[in-house]
Amino acid sequence: MDHVSNWMQKSTITSHKYRYSMQVDGMKGVLSTAWIADSWYSYFLPSVIVSKLNQEEKAILGACILSNFMSYTVEVEHGIVNPIVNKISLGESIFFSGKQERMTCYGVFADEVYHAMFSYDLLSSLMYSGDIHKIHDFELDSKEKSKKIVSLRRCDNDRDTEVSMLALGVYSEVCIATQLTNIQKDTIYEPVYNALKDHLDDEKRHAAIFVDLMRTFWKTSTIADKTLFISKLFAVMELNVSYMDRTWVKNYLSYIDKADLFSLMPTIKPENKFEGVASFVERTSKVLFAELNRLGAWDVQELNELLTRYRLAKFAQGGNLCVEQRY
Ligand SMILES: [Fe+2]
Ligand SMILES: [Fe+2]
Repeated sequence: MDHVSNWMQKSTITSHKYRYSMQVDGMKGVLSTAWIADSWYSYFLPSVIVSKLNQEEKAILGACILSNFMSYTVEVEHGIVNPIVNKISLGESIFFSGKQERMTCYGVFADEVYHAMFSYDLLSSLMYSGDIHKIHDFELDSKEKSKKIVSLRRCDNDRDTEVSMLALGVYSEVCIATQLTNIQKDTIYEPVYNALKDHLDDEKRHAAIFVDLMRTFWKTSTIADKTLFISKLFAVMELNVSYMDRTWVKNYLSYIDKADLFSLMPTIKPENKFEGVASFVERTSKVLFAELNRLGAWDVQELNELLTRYRLAKFAQGGNLCVEQRY
């Protein structure tokens, strides 16, 4: 099947009915909606803070968490994925120039724009209704981590920048697909769940497409390119575990008049960095490591040294898990 027919049949934009609309009637609607199940809170705030919140404050927290989660995925996909697929589809890539690759990348670009649009549609009905425009203010202040991730793509020359963009793109698509896979129905407000579920259908294809691009890159790239690729991959994983967005939490606690609870927020200790990276890989990136193992990445001395430096050698064995089978 060619890539256009494949995209026409499988992509959310062409094959799924739009089913994400929600009506939030100002602050009253925010407070009376069950945004997320209690099990979600602990991913974002320590239980010592959650236990001091009443039902209304938890409802606002749920709305904030969804707002942040959706805007984070949009920012990363627009800041990382779309710039690289745009470059490939326009025929401006150093590593990819085939017709199939270019067509596939046009499809990914269209998908990401559609994801951003329906996510924003959901978010805006939340962010701009009544008092809850405050959530919009929280969101504006909480782009710290996505900005830092996007800034990792900057390099001195075009070739290195493209390699970095590719590494961040592979990371982003595989991790987003895995994270969305783990979201359970009935733990999240239904229109938002529907949007995340449809988003996942596309992201499963995108993860496979990006792993495919990585395979092609591996054949034509130099050792210096591969070393940069792996170093950016590990750097973005490190950033993800060592940096916590805290501004939105501070804004939220001030909004509910419990600013003093902010002192209970944990800090990430630098000495726990490698443990954090390993558990992140365990949760989100085993499929990526399986592919790198198959490519023989760690036979290259420079790459093996990076693997050792990040203490990730335990993931360097086995290559059974395949991205096409995983999702
Ligand atoms: Fe997406
Ligand atoms: Fe994507």
